Amino acid sequence: MSAVFRINELRDHLGDEVTVRAWVMTTRSSGKIGFVVLRDGTGYLQAVVLKKEVEPSLWESFKELTLETAVQVRGTARDDERAPGGVELTVTGIEVLATSPDFPITPKEHGTAFLFEHRHLWLRSRRQVAIMRVRHEVVSAIRDFLNEREFVLVDTPILTGAIGESAGTLFETEYFDLGSAYLAQTGQLYLEAAAAALGRVYCFGPTFRAEKSKTRRHLAEFWMVEPEAAWLDSDDNMRLQEDFVSYIVGRCLERRAEDLKELDRDTASLERVTPPFHRISYSDAITRLGELGKDIQWGQDLGADEEIALSDTYDRPVFVYNYPRAVRAFYMKQNPEDPRTVLNNDLLAPEGVGEIIGGSQREDDHDRLLERIRELYLPEEPYGWYLDLRKYGTFVHSGFGLGVERTVAWICGIPHIREAIAFPRMMTRLYP
Ligand code: 4AD
Ligand code: MG
Repeated sequence: MSAVFRINELRDHLGDEVTVRAWVMTTRSSGKIGFVVLRDGTGYLQAVVLKKEVEPSLWESFKELTLETAVQVRGTARDDERAPGGVELTVTGIEVLATSPDFPITPKEHGTAFLFEHRHLWLRSRRQVAIMRVRHEVVSAIRDFLNEREFVLVDTPILTGAIGESAGTLFETEYFDLGSAYLAQTGQLYLEAAAAALGRVYCFGPTFRAEKSKTRRHLAEFWMVEPEAAWLDSDDNMRLQEDFVSYIVGRCLERRAEDLKELDRDTASLERVTPPFHRISYSDAITRLGELGKDIQWGQDLGADEEIALSDTYDRPVFVYNYPRAVRAFYMKQNPEDPRTVLNNDLLAPEGVGEIIGGSQREDDHDRLLERIRELYLPEEPYGWYLDLRKYGTFVHSGFGLGVERTVAWICGIPHIREAIAFPRMMTRLYP
């Protein structure tokens, strides 16, 4: 048997007899020449069977190939500019490894519900493969950036004893004899403790929110990366975020150009994602939104509509900073220049995406934090350890959380984040 290669390795073996293990995507035949397009996760390969040059049994094997049949194909790799991946295989042998009768997803159009019910099979399609590869690049870039900046990974718990973000979206479960545990909405509070130990830290994992909304940007389980750093104030925090997001987008442009092309992504707007991003205070944003004809008053949170209307007026991501404290989480630092507001920011991505990051400087004053916990009727006892951080060497610190699926959806140019994760968890979906 000739040596086995993955499809993306074939360019280095032109003229050689090679073997490929793959799945069948399409077949067509003129009666004399047969074409079969194969995929193996690394790329796409057109294999050509010439009827008069092969054994009749090989031609018969070719004719039996159906969508998603697993095959081992032998042949000579040839340079062909017109072929996907620039390589064509002239077939000398086909071995069916596993048949695939009546694959449910055919080249015709299917409804979204049907595709999500068959998500385990739908993942094999070109578009889904491209999205997953971009996601992989986003995750690798996140880790590389944070490693380069010497952030230390600290894994925070998924089962938590206190509300991390807001009471409205908790998944609750029984926890032995200790009452209720909540699935983590954020790792942030634990990271603040770790930041006092290590200076710069991050966590990166699944996050859970019982979102009872069916929007195109909410999942019940999503991945969030959360950097947290000592001695970083709110302005430093925004500078870190713009460097971070620019790095992630730049890496996808550099290394995943083919996948972005597969997704028909117009990359011009991504090329513009370089620092500095735009900055607008919440108060100015409200004025601007009024001018844009939006019915929103100072004190109200921005919804998806407002975020999109606002970000549409910019050519790259925009920070909206210093929101009213009433519409933000308890841990954000009060703005000394305007106590009605906090030192926070959201980062809104362009092209109808909206918020991809929420970040803030944290309240480092013990009494003010306690006051805030009481104002919101949060139970004090579970936050005892968190308040301790403000008793023993309290320190200026800030951090943020970037949602991976929203970022992937934006970079891929897909409207709904449920395609940005392999197996989305939503209010109406727990299977497959
Ligand atoms: O703005 P959020 O709620 O911020 C936090 O959780 C902070 N503790 C982060 C921090 O400062 N360490 O969430 C951060 C990001 C959002 O901007 C969004 O991208 C994503 O997480 N996100 C969701 N993504 C998908 N589905 C949901 N239900 C999401 N909720 C938030
Ligand atoms: Mg937010």
